[in-house]
Amino acid sequence: MIYCSDGISWIKAQPDACVDLVLTDPPYDLPVVTQQGLLSHFRRISRHGAIVFAQPERPWPLPDQHGFWIKPISTKNTSRRYSRFVELIQVYACDVWNADRHWSQYTNVFMDLVDGDTDHPYEKPTTLIRRLILNHTSPGMTILDPFMGSGTIGVVAEVLGRGFIGLEQSPSIFNRAQMRIMGGLS
Ligand SMILES: C[S@@+](CC[C@H](N)C(=O)[O-])C[C@H]1O[C@@H](n2cnc3c(N)ncnc32)[C@H](O)[C@@H]1O
Repeated sequence: MIYCSDGISWIKAQPDACVDLVLTDPPYDLPVVTQQGLLSHFRRISRHGAIVFAQPERPWPLPDQHGFWIKPISTKNTSRRYSRFVELIQVYACDVWNADRHWSQYTNVFMDLVDGDTDHPYEKPTTLIRRLILNHTSPGMTILDPFMGSGTIGVVAEVLGRGFIGLEQSPSIFNRAQMRIMGGLS
């Protein structure tokens, strides 16, 4: 199920323990107080924890573990600031741990390349999302992404036989995500 709607209001209205995992890449400019409020709702509505992407300059509060997405490419830097080649993957209370995969699947450094064909500026690599979903969910579990952008998490969840609930507030971005999720990874 995907909705063109405000993910923050939607989450607040949901009952306890209604999804299995929150896996999300929120807008980077959320104030700390909003991050804190969202985290407490993630903990309330998710049976098996949450994974949140964040920028190093704006980390979310107190995760149990950190992953790092090292982005091997960037655009030319004209900003008089250091180019950001890393994003944080913050892990909260994830108690599903599928330990039967090759050891290389459990390193906390990810170096995947963006592989989709959308023009969303913050699209994530499907291979990275696939690794997180396979490590932290089982088939049939439901994943929530309240800030789905181009729908990368939804595409991978559907292909792997997981349920998916996604929200995106921008109608044009939502339409693109909807087409992408319906088309799968092919
Ligand atoms: C960092 S991007 C997500 C990118 C996504 N992971 C992908 O692979 O394309 C965050 C998205 O959240 C959307 N957004 C921002 N505030 C929102 C809100 N309150 N509710 C739903 N979507 C929101 C933005 O329009 C943006 O597309």
